[in-house]
Amino acid sequence: MPASTPDRGRTELIIGAQWGDEGKGKIVDLLGEKADLVARYQGGHNAGHTVKFGDETFILHLVPTGILRPDTTCVIGNGVVVDPSALLKETAELEARGIDIGGRIKISRYAHLIMPWHTLLESCLENSEGCAKIGTTGRGIGPAYADKIYRRGLRMEDLLDPRRMEKKAASLAGEHNRVLTRAFGAQGAMLEDILPVLYRFRERFAGCIVDTAGLLNSAIAAGKRVLIEGAQGALLDVDFGTYPFVTSSNTTIGGVSTGLGLSLRKVDTVIGIIKAYTTRVGNGPFPTELTGATGELLREAGYEYGATTGRPRRCGWFDGVAARYSMMLNDVDTLALTKLDVLDGLDEIRICTAYTVRGEQVNDWVDVCAFWDEAEPVYETMPGWKRPIGEVRRFTDLPAETQAYVKRLQEVAGVEFSWVSVGPKRSETIVM
Ligand code: GDP
Ligand code: IMO
Ligand code: MG
Repeated sequence: MPASTPDRGRTELIIGAQWGDEGKGKIVDLLGEKADLVARYQGGHNAGHTVKFGDETFILHLVPTGILRPDTTCVIGNGVVVDPSALLKETAELEARGIDIGGRIKISRYAHLIMPWHTLLESCLENSEGCAKIGTTGRGIGPAYADKIYRRGLRMEDLLDPRRMEKKAASLAGEHNRVLTRAFGAQGAMLEDILPVLYRFRERFAGCIVDTAGLLNSAIAAGKRVLIEGAQGALLDVDFGTYPFVTSSNTTIGGVSTGLGLSLRKVDTVIGIIKAYTTRVGNGPFPTELTGATGELLREAGYEYGATTGRPRRCGWFDGVAARYSMMLNDVDTLALTKLDVLDGLDEIRICTAYTVRGEQVNDWVDVCAFWDEAEPVYETMPGWKRPIGEVRRFTDLPAETQAYVKRLQEVAGVEFSWVSVGPKRSETIVM
């Protein structure tokens, strides 16, 4: 069917524009009201997507955020890596809180499993001398993707036949345990602990393991609305991010096509999520980082602690150079600006619009990255508004200083904002 067929369903992509934790969960939830399907295309339970409504707070890791809307089908695409224990735990917790899951989760038969040996290996590598310490979430993400590319991963479809599942798990455990014990002197993963988990997973989810690429393409052809939920952010992309301080998947738009089996011609709108300042968890370059009192203030006002690991997030000024790079990579149509209210208490606010490297002005992120330890941000300073904006629902009701800051961010990023978020709840949103 041609991509331009007028009566096919619309597809929106929600993508993180910085180093993750931009507030994707809130916006997916907000826009999810009209979606028939919500699909994840990459990452795993390294993600932590927070949704707040009423007095309820949910943090989704592996399950697409659409699960909080009762009639939405949730797709875990082939590009996602799934820790079976993590998915069992997360779904059990959601069910205990009254979320009806039933058969609403569909998992790609080609999605790879994160196994205990991946987590053990990651811990060895993170603590080994000579390897860059990435500061990962410790969820086994990197080793699981490495095995996928190395063509020795366990895939969902392997679970459909118990004999094949047992045989493959035993052989992979043996192979990985030799490396763990001999190369690192670490403990191996115990097959007798692993098999019961795989059997429990089979029992619960075997009926949910399907051809998700076919499912999504048919749904779109039948006029259904699809929301694609990115995890992490553009600057954590394994190719285009601040390598090696990145995650192990393509977080940017290209990951959608390979991670879901969906042509990019079927993505109608790309919605970038961007914070009014910048945060990052884990190690790696962050030239606009604030290590003093202002960074601390942002962390406390924005409650900047990892939704997955609880680690304090590093905080800094808005980086317009990084933002423009992210807009280019993802061909972003429109943006949701989040966490504007976090800046309420500041006397003045800075925006990085360019860098200087060895005395020369640099406007492109790739050139900054080549010299990140020498790059000096060039800042514009704007006055703060020094009053709470969380109750405001119309842009023109915001203080003049706030409006000016938002307009300047828009100019610097080069893409318009369709939403401005002034609080974590669904309702705390200004539609532009
Ligand atoms: P995600 O990974 O991109 O979904 O973002 P996280 O959930 O990890 O982190 C975003 C945090 O900011 C969560 O605690 C949200 O509840 C919160 N949040 C989202 N939007 C806003 C906002 O506009 N203002 C404030 N104060 N908090 C927000
Ligand atoms: P959401 O979807 C922020 C970071 C880790 C580390 C690097 C690699 O909530 O935005 P990994 O465990 O993926 O191998 O770690 O990536 N990281 C995130 N940072 N938000 C996330 O997800 C992240 N997922 C991974 O902190 O620096
Ligand atoms: Mg998060």
